[in-house]
Amino acid sequence: MNILIFGATSAIAGAVARRYASAGNRFVLVARNEAKLAALCQRLTDSGADSAEPMLADLAVLTDPGKPAKHDELIDQAFTQLRNIDLVLICHGALPDQESCGTDFEAALEALDSNGLSAIALLTALAPKMMARGRGTIAVITSVAGDRGRRSNYVYGSAKALVSAWLQGMRGQLHEAGVHLIDIRPGLVDSPMTAHLPKGPLFTTPDRVATSIVKAVTRKRHTIYTPAWWRPILWIVKLIPNTIFKRLKF
Ligand SMILES: NC(=O)c1ccc[n+]([C@@H]2O[C@H](COP(=O)([O-])OP(=O)(O)OC[C@H]3O[C@@H](n4cnc5c(N)ncnc54)[C@H](OP(=O)(O)O)[C@@H]3O)[C@@H](O)[C@H]2O)c1
Repeated sequence: MNILIFGATSAIAGAVARRYASAGNRFVLVARNEAKLAALCQRLTDSGADSAEPMLADLAVLTDPGKPAKHDELIDQAFTQLRNIDLVLICHGALPDQESCGTDFEAALEALDSNGLSAIALLTALAPKMMARGRGTIAVITSVAGDRGRRSNYVYGSAKALVSAWLQGMRGQLHEAGVHLIDIRPGLVDSPMTAHLPKGPLFTTPDRVATSIVKAVTRKRHTIYTPAWWRPILWIVKLIPNTIFKRLKF
């Protein structure tokens, strides 16, 4: 299998990559931290992957108006390295400070970029190339936070909702061309992104999320909640009437 991962140094991406690190599998890994990326490539080849090539890139698009074009170049390079790509995982993201984003539009824009627009830029550049090949899977990590905007987290949630809605629409277009699209919606995961948050029973591990991602790819699922019990929880959260929801502080 030929695998391309964006945000490869994320805890969840690393756990997914380890599961695919066996003979016959080749990786191109995109991330912005050179040392972490080199270490991951080494670990994957030590674990049996045929190859793991690093590509350094900050995936934000708003810092530089020319960035979407660079995403194209990035993807061209990945296709040159791997020839045919079987699986793309889009995994980068950052948990913004809701309070500062709520009062500072620049901060909100940065959060919308790292969690939303940058993923859309990648999808836009990837789609025609994957469709031309006529097969393969693109899996994108969004979040349960995108299911309903919550007072404590609505900037991050809005960015993830943008990506989820985009995937819902784009799925039809890609399906016609033989390409499968998966929306991965994790709940709370104990990773560097949530290191500052107090941990409780709702938290899961990057390993558990990775196991469900691999299963979703094999079974060609469309949208998964991980762990799966988030689906009924979000179903209930979405049913709460606004008159009550606006009074909740979570
Ligand atoms: N942790 C959770 O509770 C949770 C819940 C739902 C969804 N998610 C989603 O799961 C995905 C993976 O997160 P994680 O939990 O594995 O957290 P993580 O280990 O902190 O990974 C986040 C990754 O995103 C990268 N990143 C952020 N902004 C970037 C940018 N502009 N360009 C390139 N890379 C960038 C980070 O790179 P650096 O290491 O260089 O900073 C890091 O590798 C994210 O999309 C996140 O939103 C996480």
